[in-house]
Amino acid sequence: MALGFSVRCCALLFLCGLWTRAQDIPPYTEDCRTGTYPPTGPTFKGNASWYTINLDLPPEERWNKVIKDKKKEIVNLMQVIKDLVEAFDPTGQVIRLVDYKLPILLDSLPYPFNEEIQGIADASGLPVGEVIFYNIFYELSCLCTSIIAEDEKGRMFHARNLDFGLFLGWDIKHSTWIVNRALKPLVLNLDFQKRNKTVFKGVTFAGYVGMLTGIKSNIFTLSMNERYSLDGGFMGILEWIFGVNSSWVGFLMRSVLENATSYKEVKKELVETKLIAPAYFILGGKSGEACVITRTREDSMDVWELDVKQGMWYLLETNYDHWNQPMFLDDRRTPAMKCMNRITQKNISLPTLYDVLSTKPVLNKLTTYTALMSVDDGTLETYLRDCPNPCMPW
Ligand SMILES: *[C@@H]1O[C@H](CO)[C@@H](O)[C@H](O)[C@H]1NC(C)=O
Ligand SMILES: *[C@@H]1O[C@H](CO)[C@@H](O)[C@H](O)[C@H]1NC(C)=O
Ligand SMILES: *[C@@H]1O[C@H](CO)[C@@H](O)[C@H](O)[C@H]1NC(C)=O
Ligand SMILES: *[C@@H]1O[C@H](CO)[C@@H](O)[C@H](O)[C@H]1NC(C)=O
Ligand SMILES: *[C@@H]1O[C@H](CO)[C@@H](O)[C@H](O)[C@H]1NC(C)=O
Repeated sequence: MALGFSVRCCALLFLCGLWTRAQDIPPYTEDCRTGTYPPTGPTFKGNASWYTINLDLPPEERWNKVIKDKKKEIVNLMQVIKDLVEAFDPTGQVIRLVDYKLPILLDSLPYPFNEEIQGIADASGLPVGEVIFYNIFYELSCLCTSIIAEDEKGRMFHARNLDFGLFLGWDIKHSTWIVNRALKPLVLNLDFQKRNKTVFKGVTFAGYVGMLTGIKSNIFTLSMNERYSLDGGFMGILEWIFGVNSSWVGFLMRSVLENATSYKEVKKELVETKLIAPAYFILGGKSGEACVITRTREDSMDVWELDVKQGMWYLLETNYDHWNQPMFLDDRRTPAMKCMNRITQKNISLPTLYDVLSTKPVLNKLTTYTALMSVDDGTLETYLRDCPNPCMPW
């Protein structure tokens, strides 16, 4: 697929352009925010709404209610994506590929994702190839910040900003990323149930059947950040098209949330399963259990463990290997750590984590939502975000 390649080329050009601009603009950073919770003001755009997904239904029917309510927004986002693709591919080859070739690959997606995607295509009226494309799309560009922390009483907190839509078209008039704007109405909290009982909860975009943020009450919390590498998702997608058996990241996360029953089991699966794209998995369990797993497509390069006894009471991951410096143009790690260290272990909580994730540039133009989770009581709260000017583009 030429798409991955041209998106990356474009990304590079864009980066150069923005970097040149970055010389002229003041640094859009600020001192650590405090007292931002409960969320209010211009950086808060509302609560994500809740939907129940009934796992006892056949996969084709599970998403009907969501699609019924969000069809217009999904079709709108798909159109935005198509327009962007068309700008780079005026002859329409990519979209033809999506419409005519991708449907053949539906059967190579594992159950229940293949049937859920078919159901979403039927309910939305979108061609199945476009729904597959839409589902691939979410795997590829999540610049994010995830934090897991343990307080002095041994309570575990997991919070994340999901920053999405980099390089996918800048809207000068509104000073926002076009895709990012189209995405916000799609953010949903989901309660996955069997026999009317919650199995797990997660945050997703309507129409996407994978999971990038989720919690299984009393057992674990999980989030994923994109990992950029030369051996990236583009190769993985080619392999998938040619039939190599590896997992989509968001599908693997949904599977462990649905079916794994212990922290250990989840960790083993996240370390060992072959993936289509490299990733960081940020996994938390009960007191003392938390790690960041740095993944290549083949295996795990590193498992970075929480170590409260040694004073390491939190793990913080953005989009860079923790043993390397972040790229200087995109350093959200240093400001976030500064705020964490200022808060101290004694005062860490979901509200103070919200403070950290509300501090620019940890909060930036790409930030779509902030999710707060606490494994001990099964809390999941998701807030839609905005970053009015002045604010870093990422
Ligand atoms: C968001 O949810 C909180 C807690 O449930 C509620 O108090 C608040 O009014 C909601 N805000 C908006 C804008 O809906
Ligand atoms: C991939 O391989 C695993 C283990 O070999 C198998 O259980 C699974 O069904 C395969 N998946 C697909 C989509 O072929
Ligand atoms: C779930 O709850 C609904 C309404 O509360 C009820 O009609 C249904 O029979 C319940 N299903 C099961 C499997 O218990
Ligand atoms: C979870 O396990 C059940 C039973 O083996 C299976 O039917 C279901 O598809 C699995 N869920 C996911 C998301 O893989
Ligand atoms: C911790 O929180 C308490 C009460 O909210 C506050 O008085 C105290 O200054 C905070 N400590 C630090 C180190 O921020």
